[in-house]
Amino acid sequence: MVKDIGIDLGTVNTLINIKGQGIVLDEPSVVAVNQLTKEPIAFGKTANDMIGRTSQDIEIVFPLKGGVIADFDATMAMVDHFVKKLKITSVLTKPDMLICVPTSITDVERKAIINMAEQSGAKRVYVEDEPKVAAVGSGLNIFIPSGNMIIDLGGGTTDIAVISLGSTVVSKSIKIAGDQMDEDIIRYVKENYELLIGDVMAEKVKKKLARATPDIEPASMRVSGRDLATGLPVTKTIKSDDISEAIATTLDTIIATAAGVLEKTPPELSSDIMFKGIYLTGGGALIKGIEGLFSEALGVKVIVPENPLQSVALGAGDLLEKLNSKTGFWTSIKRLFTSRQIFINPTGRENNQGAAVRVEGRSASVPKSDSATKQVGKNDHAHHTTDDKEKHEDLPQEDQLAVREEQLPSNTSVKDTTEEVSDDTINHAETGSDSSEQETENNSEETKESATEKPSNSSEENSEKLS
Ligand SMILES: Nc1ncnc2c1ncn2[C@@H]1O[C@H](COP(=O)(O)OP(=O)(O)OP(=O)(O)O)[C@@H](O)[C@H]1O
Ligand SMILES: [Mg+2]
Repeated sequence: MVKDIGIDLGTVNTLINIKGQGIVLDEPSVVAVNQLTKEPIAFGKTANDMIGRTSQDIEIVFPLKGGVIADFDATMAMVDHFVKKLKITSVLTKPDMLICVPTSITDVERKAIINMAEQSGAKRVYVEDEPKVAAVGSGLNIFIPSGNMIIDLGGGTTDIAVISLGSTVVSKSIKIAGDQMDEDIIRYVKENYELLIGDVMAEKVKKKLARATPDIEPASMRVSGRDLATGLPVTKTIKSDDISEAIATTLDTIIATAAGVLEKTPPELSSDIMFKGIYLTGGGALIKGIEGLFSEALGVKVIVPENPLQSVALGAGDLLEKLNSKTGFWTSIKRLFTSRQIFINPTGRENNQGAAVRVEGRSASVPKSDSATKQVGKNDHAHHTTDDKEKHEDLPQEDQLAVREEQLPSNTSVKDTTEEVSDDTINHAETGSDSSEQETENNSEETKESATEKPSNSSEENSEKLS
């Protein structure tokens, strides 16, 4: 049986959810490349453990930057490696792949991702906005006419979106997130302690010491690096207050961006958000006290779901289940003739080709009484009219769903294989890299914004749209 997969291809972490099995892979987005042969030699955790500890012959590559592919070959090799590890592809079995991307992604970046997925053995490629998927993974029903606001604070990007009826109404994506905080910490420690620390140490310090509000118990940590004056290894004690000061500007920028999104949100949706709160996902949601800080600054309660690092991957599993929630002979036949590429949420694209029809049903992650709405593109043959809907209204909810989603099959239950991110104090010496060398991405704010969602443009003839 073909196992469709959802991939949260993050700047820092890549997670894969197999439909029906849950999250089966959770590894850092890192590749180690042999500089002599130019061949990748390690991926994920193995490559991550090599950071700062390699000879000149091995280069550590972070194939994604700001949530998009920065090094195509390395991304391709990494995804290929992860997919092969799962043993789900063969000549005869090609899975559909749902890839989650930042809202600001350009057409070129989107095509690169589709291309990469196809080369990794995907039969059809679905591309969806991260905040939307994170909302589903947080248990929100985004398909009803009600406003939902998500802030996905990841490693490379902070994606903020207001979603209603399955579509993004207002969104903003900035390339300021966890990685920026690591750079802030490197710079702060250099300027205030004359100590040079590396990225890995900076991230450990952040996880251990960062606190967004003063009511959180402060901590301190012995941090080793290179003394700027002597050039020798040295250990100094860094406190929570240092880190709070270091990352304050970055947190303020994220808050200001979220406030900007709220300002552009239509009043009806704002009142829904006031009532439900803002959902904060991504690794940044684990900063201690961050929900209190955001909540006070934005005047709206902020909720961090149980596994914020896994929200996107969990949501991808739910959406896959929804997309293929019914299998049958006709579905299989039809799938042979439908498109290779389906854009579930065509944000920021031009050229909407063709009318869409609605398919209504229940969101996979919400109680049965809630309804979900999807739009199916003109190439999909399962057209449902209002009459169809009325005709089936007397059926039990589950059957209505079956009727309305006859082409969407399934059997998924999401298994939670959470891997806790350890934030143990580690005091070993680390070769610091000069932070000034790493500041090129600083404040490179993505300005792309969608006040109302624009339809997608697929260059492929047979593209199909769901939103
Ligand atoms: N306990 C923690 N405290 C603070 N930050 C944390 C914690 N755990 C993880 N992070 C940070 O979260 C970020 C990774 O989050 P996530 O996996 O959501 O990003 P990503 O999906 O890979 O990136 P993006 O979505 O931007 O492409 C890193 O910057 C990491 O340092
Ligand atoms: Mg992410």
